[in-house]
Amino acid sequence: MTTAQAPVYPADVYSDDALHDPYPHYRAIRDLGPAVWLPEHGAYAVGRYADARAVLLDGETFRSAHGIALNEPANDAILGCTLASDGERHAHLRRVVAHRLTARSLAPIREAVTAGADALVDELVARGSFDAVTDLAQALPLSVVPDFIGWPREGREHLLRWAAANFDSFGPMNARTERALPQCGEMAAYGSELVRTGNVLPGSLGAGVLESRDRGDIDTEQAMMLMLDYLAPSLDTTISAVGSAIWLFGNHPEQWDRVRADPRLVAGAANEVVRLEAPVRAFGRITVRDTEIGGVPIAESSRVLVIYASANRDERRWDRPDEFDVGRPDSAQQLGYGYGEHGCAGQALARMEIEALLAALARSVTRFELGTPQRALNNVIRAFGSLPVRVLTG
Ligand code: HEM
Repeated sequence: MTTAQAPVYPADVYSDDALHDPYPHYRAIRDLGPAVWLPEHGAYAVGRYADARAVLLDGETFRSAHGIALNEPANDAILGCTLASDGERHAHLRRVVAHRLTARSLAPIREAVTAGADALVDELVARGSFDAVTDLAQALPLSVVPDFIGWPREGREHLLRWAAANFDSFGPMNARTERALPQCGEMAAYGSELVRTGNVLPGSLGAGVLESRDRGDIDTEQAMMLMLDYLAPSLDTTISAVGSAIWLFGNHPEQWDRVRADPRLVAGAANEVVRLEAPVRAFGRITVRDTEIGGVPIAESSRVLVIYASANRDERRWDRPDEFDVGRPDSAQQLGYGYGEHGCAGQALARMEIEALLAALARSVTRFELGTPQRALNNVIRAFGSLPVRVLTG
C-alpha cells in the first residue's frame, strides 16, 4: 500500500476530544484533499461530499465485507451480515427483509407511531421539565422498534447497551472498542438463540426472517444475522437524531418558530438535523483493486473511511454549511443515511419516528430551554447521554 501521494492528517479522530468536537478535524481533512491518510487509523479519510458519494456508489471497488470497521475482530464478527456483505449476497439479504421497511409497507404502523409520539409528548409537556434523551429520544424508538422486529420482551433490558456497543465496536482498537466487543458477542448469542427457539413476536420482521429460513430462502446462519441486522442500528441512530433536534432547536429558537408556523417544514427539518449532526459519523470500506479517489491513487487492500458527518458540512457542496436552516431546499441530499446499495434500509421508519415527535412538539411547545448537556462518547454515533430541557407552551 502506498500513501506517497496522499496528504497526511496525523490526529486520532477517535480520541475523546475529537469525538466531543469532530468538525474542526473534518474541515482540516477536507481542506487537505479528497483522500487523506490517517496514520493513527491506517485508513484514507474521505471527507468531501462528491468523493464520499462516489465511493458509496462504487461498491464493486469499495467493499463492505471486511471493510466497515477500523479493527479486524469487529470486521470478522460481522462478516456476511447485511451491512458487511457485497454483491449478490448483500442484495439477497436486503430482498428478504427490506421490503418490510419501505414507506408503503410501513403505512399500517404510521398511526401507532403518531399516537405513541403524541401521547409521549403530551405527558412530557405536562411535566414541563424532562431529559430530552432518556425521557423523549429513547422512549419512542424503544416502544416501536423492538415490537416491529419481534424481539421478545424479556430480552429488552439489554438493548440500549448492546446497540451502543455494536457501534462502538466499529472504531479503531481503542478502549471503547475493547469494552464493546464482548457485549456484541452477548447480543449475537441472544439473536442466535431467538432463531434456534423461534421466540419472536408473531407477524414481526423477525417472524418473517424465520419463515424465509423455513422456506429455504436463507440458511440458519443468515437468519441469525438478519435477526440483529435491523435491530442493532435502529435505536442509537434515531435517538441521536431526536436528541440533536432538541439541542439545535433549543439553540436556534427562530428555526423552531418557522417549523411551528409551517408544519410542512417538519420533513425538511428532520433532514437538516441529520445533515448537520449526522448520527453515524463514518463507516469504512476496503478496496479490492487499485483505484483513485478524486485523483489520489489508492492501492488495492486499502482501508477507506467515508465520513458522512464531514460530507454533510462540505463547503464545496453546501451553502452556509455550518448553519442550521430548516428551510434549506436541498437538505434531502445529505448523506447521513448513507448512499447507494448500502444506503440505510431503515430510513423510512427513522424519518417516521423523528417527524412524528417534531410534529407533536410543534403543536404545543413554543420554546426549549436547555440545561447542561452531556455527550455520550461513542466511536460511531454522535449523541448526548443526557440533555435536560424545560419546555414553554402557549
Ligand atoms: C436517524 C436514524 C438513522 C441513521 C442516521 C442511519 C444511518 C445509516 C447509515 C449511514 C447507513 C449506511 C451504512 C453504509 O454506508 O455502509 C445505514 C445502514 C443501515 N441502516 Fe440505518 N440509520 C438510521 C436508522 C435506522 C433504523 C431505524 C434501522 C432499522 C429499522 C436501520 C437499519 C439499517 C440497516 C439494516 C442498514 C444496512 C444497510 C445495508 O448495508 O444494505 N437504520 N444506516
